[in-house]
Amino acid sequence: MTFQEEILAGIPTELPEVKAYDPDINHAPKRKDILTPEEKVLALKNALRYFPQRHHAVLAREFAEELHRYGRIYMYRFRPSYEMYARPIDEYPARSRQAAAIMAMIQNNLDPRVAQHPHELIIYGGNGAIFQNWAQYRLVMQYLATMTDEQTLVMYSGHPLGLFPSHKDAPRVIVTNGMVIPNYSKPDHWEKFNALGVSQYGQMTAGSYMYIGPQGIVHGTTITVMNAARKQGGSPAGKLFVTAGLGGMSGAQPKAGNIAGVVSVTAEINPKAAEKRHAQGWVDELHRDLDELIPRIRKAVAAKEVVSLAYVGNVVDLWERLADEGMHVDLGSDQTSLHNPWAGGYYPVGYSLEESKKMMAEEPARFKEAVQASLRRQVDAINRLTAKGMYFFDYGNAFLLESSRAGADILKPDGSFRYPSYVQDIMGPLYFDYGFGPFRWVCMSEKPEDLAKSDALAVKVLGEIAATAPDEIAGQMRDNIHWIEEAGRNHLVVGSQARILYADCEGRTKIALAFNEAIRKGEISAPIVLGRDHHDVSGTDSPFRETSNIYDGSQYTADMAVQNVIGDGFRGATWVSIHNGGGVGWGEVINGGFGMVIDGSDDSARHIREMLFWDVNNGIARRSWARNEGARFAIEREMARTPELKVTLPNLADEELIKSVLK
Ligand SMILES: NC(=O)c1ccc[n+]([C@@H]2O[C@H](COP(=O)([O-])OP(=O)(O)OC[C@H]3O[C@@H](n4cnc5c(N)ncnc54)[C@H](O)[C@@H]3O)[C@@H](O)[C@H]2O)c1
Repeated sequence: MTFQEEILAGIPTELPEVKAYDPDINHAPKRKDILTPEEKVLALKNALRYFPQRHHAVLAREFAEELHRYGRIYMYRFRPSYEMYARPIDEYPARSRQAAAIMAMIQNNLDPRVAQHPHELIIYGGNGAIFQNWAQYRLVMQYLATMTDEQTLVMYSGHPLGLFPSHKDAPRVIVTNGMVIPNYSKPDHWEKFNALGVSQYGQMTAGSYMYIGPQGIVHGTTITVMNAARKQGGSPAGKLFVTAGLGGMSGAQPKAGNIAGVVSVTAEINPKAAEKRHAQGWVDELHRDLDELIPRIRKAVAAKEVVSLAYVGNVVDLWERLADEGMHVDLGSDQTSLHNPWAGGYYPVGYSLEESKKMMAEEPARFKEAVQASLRRQVDAINRLTAKGMYFFDYGNAFLLESSRAGADILKPDGSFRYPSYVQDIMGPLYFDYGFGPFRWVCMSEKPEDLAKSDALAVKVLGEIAATAPDEIAGQMRDNIHWIEEAGRNHLVVGSQARILYADCEGRTKIALAFNEAIRKGEISAPIVLGRDHHDVSGTDSPFRETSNIYDGSQYTADMAVQNVIGDGFRGATWVSIHNGGGVGWGEVINGGFGMVIDGSDDSARHIREMLFWDVNNGIARRSWARNEGARFAIEREMARTPELKVTLPNLADEELIKSVLK
């Protein structure tokens, strides 16, 4: 069968050959054995729904074995036979160009260069799923290949409910991931619902087909590290940044450290993850022995080298050694997957990776104790270093939250965390409040020259805007222009020809319109997909991350994220998605995003103007209502430009007056 025929066939009528389990691929850890015997019956019945009865005898046995062995039913046999990577848009069988673009995005997410556990359909973050099983993947590709621009595909946590009639301005796909009744949103509910095959953790961009590999996060991390270094004063040269994680997103840290000009040391316990990043050139040196690493760090700091070092081992061992040596560390953070602490996101000190994986599956209670003990030790070592001047920040992975739950010494007397999150100190006040967020685009020709042209257009547009930008945003504009000018040289593309930069509403809209015009004129040879990370001004309600700098008590509400996706849906998005979980964990956040295919048409120009305006400004309006000064500035500026925009503004009250009446 050709590539096109295999997509059009969907779930094949005859069973494909069993696929051998590939030991060379990074596989998801075995998940918890959480289902009761009755629920296991249900899980198998659910899985068999995708296949005609004549195959059930064979498949039931096979799926039971997968459930037993891996804790989930992935339906490995149905992995496609073609190679997984994004093709140029014209190579997809399709009746809708928009649907073809979505197919390319899905295949890019599953590309083994991009995905963390590609055979388990996990894109990043240990449990960030695009689909729950290969039957869903095959059905979705078939639906996309056959749908028209007058249909919408409805996705329930990886499961395609079906195609429903709609119209050309409607989204082609609506995605929901992990939407559960709030009282059933604890981590074990995810384990259970996912094992039953009825829900999935879509992370942020994984379940919305918008992940573009570590580049997506390099930029945000670069901005964060640069601004964190600025907070410590002086030049970044010779500053030491210590952190953990060389996985899906955390793998961006060493590259960001290099772009920011510091010495970075990143601990990674999984040799496969460390070696992958090293082979891709994302980290300069791997060290397995602390006795060898410590003098190497001293040398790099003394010589003000710009270099990224990795410690292949447990981060707790690294922190404790640095503290024992009395070394000066300037910046510290952590990007282990603590949003998923009990199922492979964090490996406790004192155990090998294999021992941990075994304990996790066979003795989950003991594993939990080991993780919590490890976090207490990690925090103790970090506290010793911050006492000597290190600036430590939470990197949005629930490190502070899980450490506090573990009883670590991480709270101030008033019950708040000792350390800030990167959003409270950096991303919130400098970026989100002004509408700057992780805008991205992917060239559907898959040609590097189209990406280079789009980069040049973005530099031109941002340069023009920066010439008259107010002081409040001039620095952000400068950093982004520098980033995009350097982006080509830094070889950031893994998988599809994609780019990211932080821009505000004006920047995003003008860049997108410039691309649309270039496509119309044939200067860019194929459509472009616009999108963003959900980690943005409006997309995400997450009280310990994106909305951690909201101080009016509304950080535990999720109206903004839900409104955002609904609004994008009727203003021209090609697909929208809304997720429970993402970044900081199931039950801890609601986040949403969009994808928009632009093809040089007038319709595309209209969608760009209408949807991007809402997609950025609704979050600024909410941040302004929460009394955030930068957001107030930004929304008043927007209202002055756009007479149809009328936003409710807060009146400020005198706290002393209030205290006096409450006495
Ligand atoms: N706020 C942000 O912008 C932002 C950006 C990136 C990631 N994050 C968060 O950071 C976390 C990491 O994301 P990811 O995609 O890289 O996840 P990931 O699971 O792909 O990578 C985490 C890595 O940490 C390693 N690790 C776990 N415990 C360790 C330990 N004790 N010592 C050394 N290494 C250890 C794992 O082996 C894994 O490779 C997630 O929680 C994510 O949500 C936040």
